[in-house]
Amino acid sequence: MNKEKGKGKFVSNFGFLMASIGSAVGLGNLWGFPYKMGKNGGFAFLLVYLLLVVTVGFPLVMGEIALGRRTGKGGIQAYKQIDSKFTFNGWFAVLAPVFLLCFYSVFGGYILKYFIANLGDLFNLSFGVGGANSEAFFGNFIGAGLEPLIYTIIFHIATIIIVSLGISGGIEKFSAFAMPTLTVMLIIIVIRACTLPGAMAGLEFVFKPDFTVFKGTGILKVLGAAGSQMFFSLSLSSGAIIAFGSYLDKKANIEKNAAIVTFSDTLIAILAAMAVMPAVFAFNLEPSGGPGLLFVSIQAVFNDLGKTGPFFGTLFYLLVLFAALTSSIAMAEGTISAMLDAQISRGKKPNRILMSFIVMTLTLMGAILVCIDALGSKGLWHPFGLGTWLDVFDLLAEGILMPVGGFFLAILLGWVKPKVLDDELRTGSDYKTEKFFKFCFKYLATPILFFITLVQLNEFFGIIKF
Ligand code: PHE
Repeated sequence: MNKEKGKGKFVSNFGFLMASIGSAVGLGNLWGFPYKMGKNGGFAFLLVYLLLVVTVGFPLVMGEIALGRRTGKGGIQAYKQIDSKFTFNGWFAVLAPVFLLCFYSVFGGYILKYFIANLGDLFNLSFGVGGANSEAFFGNFIGAGLEPLIYTIIFHIATIIIVSLGISGGIEKFSAFAMPTLTVMLIIIVIRACTLPGAMAGLEFVFKPDFTVFKGTGILKVLGAAGSQMFFSLSLSSGAIIAFGSYLDKKANIEKNAAIVTFSDTLIAILAAMAVMPAVFAFNLEPSGGPGLLFVSIQAVFNDLGKTGPFFGTLFYLLVLFAALTSSIAMAEGTISAMLDAQISRGKKPNRILMSFIVMTLTLMGAILVCIDALGSKGLWHPFGLGTWLDVFDLLAEGILMPVGGFFLAILLGWVKPKVLDDELRTGSDYKTEKFFKFCFKYLATPILFFITLVQLNEFFGIIKF
């Protein structure tokens, strides 16, 4: 099945780019970004976001790729080789995707269902949405017990198959096909959405500059929302980028690659905002956040679009499916890569198929809990009174492991060993951004990641109200 030697390698720089952009572009771009932007001052949010992407996101992506390529290892051993006192941070990075997968796959399963249902509508088959009220349709589906579980398992299996096929044979091949296709589909949807009568209101919701949001503590709120969004969207501190960096050719230009990944992720988030919100506003729907946006409001748009609805619906959910799959395979690889290292250091032959199977079985347990809890509507028991199972896994990954991991990465590269990656970054690139990179790591990434961690924790525990 997997004919690669050792842990595998990307065959081309393009493959690395598609896999990394695929990791970055996910549900965070498609449903998180448009809504958060609209709710936090539109263009004002975008300005803060862009500033953060350039000064914090780009250096962190560059640092993680270089960390991976220099050591040739996944999260845990990469940190260990650079500074053994920071090995714990490798564990953070490798554990985060385990919790992420516990809920990401459930959404992946829902998306698969919606793709199939829209396909059903397209061909007038019995499993279509059939114009049903989109809120009722969603509620019935997620509460149905077995059906959402089957879709979640199928999504999980698709992820295992791709990662088991290896870096060049699975992840690279799939991403190199899925990402360009996704971009074309997204542009078609943007054109359709922006030419609907009434689309302007949606564009206004997303892009209208509202600088009054900066008043008082408002600026902190915007900074927190933009910072956490950026961090998740760029797949930072989740082992994925370090692992992909370790499979990258020594001749490749890390500086340029990091810039392309960061730029593309941001561009796709903006395009997503231009696809989603104009359509929602054109039909006078609720510009909600979270699952309500993706599965209720957007499906209502396709229901209202008349004959062409199922066509655009099928296209849209396929696009989201690709985005979710390229993200879930990156998450899985973030953990698998470190497990393969552990096998190699024990003198064993790395067994990718077995490791993929172990990671996915483990995360399936969590996904089953999230799925049968039906996003909390079933009121299943959950620990610590922290909300739903989805909230628990999200808190562990996005709330704790990822931002804390990012903070310690900034401490390591900004303060403890600022020169450690210099040679690696000079291999294949001019490293023109050296001064900028070092300054940003030291004085911006460190305090901003500390702040993002506080904001994330506050979000879950609601200590301070902004
Ligand atoms: N960046 C992805 C998104 O926006 C999520 C992700 C996080 C993917 C961590 C891989 C690793 O949805």
